[in-house]
Amino acid sequence: MHFVSVIGSADSTLQSIDWIETRQPTSMAAPSNNNKELPMPACFHNPVTTVFGGGSLDQIARHCPGKVALVTFPEAEQLGLVARVRSLLGERLVCVIDNVQPNPDVAWLRGVHEAFWAQHGDCDTVLALGGGSAIDTAKALIVGTASGHFDELLELLASGKPFSPARHKTLVAAPTTAGTGSEVTPWATLWDAGQQKKYSLHLSCTWPSVALIDPELMLSVPAGVTVSTGLDALSHALESIWNHNANPLSDTFALSAIDDILDCLPRLQQDLGNRELRARMALAALKAGLAFSNTKTALAHSISYEMTLRHGLPHGIACSFTLPLVLGLAWGRDAGRDQILQKAFGRDLAAAQQRLRAFLHQLGVRTEFADYGVTAAEAQAMIDAAMQGARGRNFIGAQAA
Ligand SMILES: NC(=O)c1ccc[n+]([C@@H]2O[C@H](COP(=O)([O-])OP(=O)(O)OC[C@H]3O[C@@H](n4cnc5c(N)ncnc54)[C@H](O)[C@@H]3O)[C@@H](O)[C@H]2O)c1
Repeated sequence: MHFVSVIGSADSTLQSIDWIETRQPTSMAAPSNNNKELPMPACFHNPVTTVFGGGSLDQIARHCPGKVALVTFPEAEQLGLVARVRSLLGERLVCVIDNVQPNPDVAWLRGVHEAFWAQHGDCDTVLALGGGSAIDTAKALIVGTASGHFDELLELLASGKPFSPARHKTLVAAPTTAGTGSEVTPWATLWDAGQQKKYSLHLSCTWPSVALIDPELMLSVPAGVTVSTGLDALSHALESIWNHNANPLSDTFALSAIDDILDCLPRLQQDLGNRELRARMALAALKAGLAFSNTKTALAHSISYEMTLRHGLPHGIACSFTLPLVLGLAWGRDAGRDQILQKAFGRDLAAAQQRLRAFLHQLGVRTEFADYGVTAAEAQAMIDAAMQGARGRNFIGAQAA
């Protein structure tokens, strides 16, 4: 049987890429190439202009049009980053929001969003300078509502239906951690710890227009955050492989990212000031981000949301401690996917899982649910529920819903 892929519209409001497989009658099949299967046509779409390298931040004046609002993390002021942005943008910098906390929560975001649109509605660009929390906060801030009330946006997100924002601003992202890839994806995770839930924001306008990836900005990241963000990137790469939406281009980025992370991260943990390792991890996180920008994440991330909300695990740990387990669930499901996984880990599943486990243990990350106070029965229920979640259904091992 031959298959032809038809790629869905890239500019719908809520869905950037859809993969639709259409079976064609045998008579329309392409001629065989000496019985060797050709890969199906695949489209890779990422609209973000990406600048990578030391000193990239110095290019913000060129890439941020008009009046600019800076969204950043609390340590940025002391690190001299706010002053640097001010000197690069001069009077065009009209607003600084520098109190972004890890995992932006709607309880905090509500007031910030409403004040931003009331006081700086005429600002053109939001510059996110920080980790995934600052970038995701900025993604929420650029989306304005007709009423000016933040809850209007939450209601639209909760409905799960596509929508066009009433107004929006341009987003430029300069990551200061090497992990989330949020600078090259359209997604933002908004947390609601009070209600024990999360919202996923995803619109055409939440793709950053430009990503400025400057490894120099990552030199100050402490050891714990260096490890958890690096593992987030590893998880993105693997999740893009054991994914129904994988394609040869996402695989290429993912495999390269996995190689780099397995090699670099333990050495970087011991040598945080090593510029070469910082640069390699920054590039690895970018490659992993590009990979999952076209596939979305899968089961490990679906499980992670519960582990962050209920058990307080940092995002990067929550989405990586299950990787050896999820590798076992993925293995043997699809010959093509096995081939890619084996390029990274060799042909023996037990050895592959052991290698991943040892890698995580070496970094000080425990790999069993019991290590986090979750019983075997709770863990199974969590996995079953995660398989049915939006991200879980991307997993090649998920049962048909
Ligand atoms: N949108 C996406 O595609 C995507 C993907 C993965 C994760 N996320 C989200 O990203 C968030 C996590 O982001 P993160 O892991 O980058 O961590 P983070 O942004 O929460 O930052 C972690 C800590 O490091 C500090 N920090 C950041 N940069 C620093 C620097 N250069 N020097 C010193 N300290 C610094 C921050 O102040 C914070 O205390 C989560 O909310 C997660 O849901 C989004």
